[in-house]
Amino acid sequence: MCGIVGYIGSKQAPSILMEGLSKLEYRGYDSAGIAVHDGTKINLLKAQGKLVNLAKMLENNQIQGKAGIGHTRWATHGAPSDINSHPHMSEDRMIAVVHNGIIENYMEIKEELSAKGYRFVSETDTETVAHLMDYYYKQGHGFLESVFMVLERIEGAYALGIICKDYPDTLIAARKNCPLVIGKGQGENFIASDIPAILHRTREVYFLNDNEVAVIKKDSIDIFDRDKNKVDRDIFHVNWDIDAAEKGGYDHFMLKEINEQPKIVQDVLSIRMKEDEDEINLEGISLRKDDLKNIDRIYIVACGTAYHAGLVGKYLIERIARIPVVADVASEFRYKDPILDERTLLIVVSQSGETADTLEALRIAKRNKARVLAIVNAVGSSIAREADDVFYILAGPEISVASTKAFTAQVVAMELICLHISMETGKMTKAEFSAARAELNSLPGRISEVIQKCGEESKLAEKYINSKNVFYIGRGLDYLISMEGSLKLKEIAYLHSEAYAAGELKHGPIAMIEDSTLVIAMLTQEELFEKTLSNIKEVKARGAKVIAIALNGNDSIKSQVDDVIYVPRSGWMTAPIIANVTTQLFAYYVAKALGTDIDQPRNLAKSVTVE
Ligand code: AGP
Repeated sequence: MCGIVGYIGSKQAPSILMEGLSKLEYRGYDSAGIAVHDGTKINLLKAQGKLVNLAKMLENNQIQGKAGIGHTRWATHGAPSDINSHPHMSEDRMIAVVHNGIIENYMEIKEELSAKGYRFVSETDTETVAHLMDYYYKQGHGFLESVFMVLERIEGAYALGIICKDYPDTLIAARKNCPLVIGKGQGENFIASDIPAILHRTREVYFLNDNEVAVIKKDSIDIFDRDKNKVDRDIFHVNWDIDAAEKGGYDHFMLKEINEQPKIVQDVLSIRMKEDEDEINLEGISLRKDDLKNIDRIYIVACGTAYHAGLVGKYLIERIARIPVVADVASEFRYKDPILDERTLLIVVSQSGETADTLEALRIAKRNKARVLAIVNAVGSSIAREADDVFYILAGPEISVASTKAFTAQVVAMELICLHISMETGKMTKAEFSAARAELNSLPGRISEVIQKCGEESKLAEKYINSKNVFYIGRGLDYLISMEGSLKLKEIAYLHSEAYAAGELKHGPIAMIEDSTLVIAMLTQEELFEKTLSNIKEVKARGAKVIAIALNGNDSIKSQVDDVIYVPRSGWMTAPIIANVTTQLFAYYVAKALGTDIDQPRNLAKSVTVE
C-alpha cells in the first residue's frame, strides 16, 4: 500500500528512483512522484495515474540531483490527483516528504498549523508532516531533531522518507507499523518499502523497526531508537534471485506466478518432509507434544486470500487433529476482545507479512501472552519478526496483486502443520501419515498437469465472458476453495461473483439464479459429490449455466452440466489445491479476454498496510 523509495549517493537520483518505483508499482498505482535535491534546492515532479505518466513528465523536465525520494500511491486521503500525489512539500520547498500509512490525528495538526498561517494545498494526511517538519525546523531545531519532534506528535502508521533543502547530503527515514528497508551500497545508500525496489543495486539491507529513525548519507547509515540512542542492526543478505521479481517472458506476473507453483510446492515439501521419516520437519517451531499440551485454544487469523488458506487450516486441524479452531478475518478479530491467554495459539497467515490488521492481531495476542506462529512469505517482514515462530512458505516475491502461488504454498503449509499436530497428538497413525505424505508428494506433478492443459479454462473464459453474476459453489474443502476462486474473479476481472456453501443456496441466494447465471461447481470431495450434484440440479432447473470442476474419470457429471474442467484425481486433502489452480487460470483468462489490468487491478494494492 504505497511504495517508497529513496536514494543518496554519487549517481543521478531520478533514474534510480524511477527504477525503484517501477518495482514497487504493485503497492499502489494511482499516482507517482519524485523529489530530487540538486545541491541547492529540491525539485519536484508528480503525476496522476500510472508511473508511465511520471516517466513522460521526466522526459520533458530533466531534473538532476544525487539525493531524492519517490513514491507510488494508493489513495487513502484524497482522490488520486496530481496535487494529492507524493512527495509533499512545505510551502517554500524546504522539506519534502513521502509517506506510506495513515496519520490519524492529521486534522487536529492541520487546524493548528493553518491557524499559524500554513497553507495546505492537498487533501492528504501526509502534507501535515511536511508542514509540521517545516514548523519545527524553522523554530531552530535541526533536521533530525525536527523529525523526532514530528514523530512525537503524529499518531497512526507511517513509513517516511524525508529530505531537507539545507541538508543535500542527508536522507532521513522513519517507520511505525509500515515496512521500510534500508539498502547499503558502496558510496550510496537506499530506502525502500520492499526489497525488489533496490535489489538491482544492493543485496545488503537493514530492516528498520517500529519507532526507529535512520539518518542516511552516501557513506553512512545511523539508526536511532525513539529515545535517540544509536542502535546496532545486523545486516541481512538477500539471497533470492533478481529474476524472481521479473516477468521472465510471461505476459503477466500472475501467469508467471501460477506457473511457479509446482516448483514452490516441491521445494517446501522437500524441506519439510523426508521420505524415511514419520514426521514433519518444523525446525524449532514449538508445536511438539509438550507444547501442544499447554494449548487449549487455536485461532487462525488473516485477511483476504490468506484468510481462505486459514479456513482450510481450520477445516483440516479440526477434521484430522480433532482440535477446535476459530478462524477469523484480522479486521474483525482485533476489535472483538478475543479470548487470549498463555494457553492460546494464534496462527497468523500473511504473504507480505505487513498487513496492518494481521500485524495488530499478532500484537494483541502477544500482549495477552498467547503464542504466535506466523505462516509468512516475505522474509524479514514485520509479522515474521514479531511472531514467536515462523513457517516461511518460501514462495519468492509475489508481484501480482492477486495472490496465487502464496495461497497454494499457505495451504500446503497448513496441511503440513496439521499433519504434524496430528502425529504429535496421536490422532494419526503412521500408515495414515505415509498416505498423506504420498498424496502431498504427488501435488507438484498434478498442479503441472493442470497448468499444461490450460486450454479448457481459456476456452470457457471466452465462452462465459459476458456473465453478469457468477456463483462458486462447493461443499467441505470445495466450498473454501470456492471462496478463493470467487475472490480471484472479482479482483482481476471485476465480475460480480459470490461463493456459497452449495447446501446454503436454497436459503436465499438461489433467488438470484436466472437464465444464464454462471455457476461454477467444485466437485473434488467424493463423499459429498451426490449432495453437490443435487444443488447443481437445483440451479440448472432455474436456468443457470454450470461449469463443473471435477476429478478425472468422473464421466457421469458431463450430462448434468454445460461444461466440465477435469483435474487430476487426488485425495480429498489435496484435490482442492489442484482444483484451485483451475480457478486461478479461469479468472486469469476471463480478465485477459476482458482486457483488464491483470497484475495491477483497479482500486487494489498488494500490501495493505493501513486498516
Ligand atoms: C489476494 O489476491 C489479495 N490481493 C488480498 O486478499 C491479500 O491476500 C490480503 O490483502 C492479505 O495479504 P497478506 O497475505 O499479504 O497479509
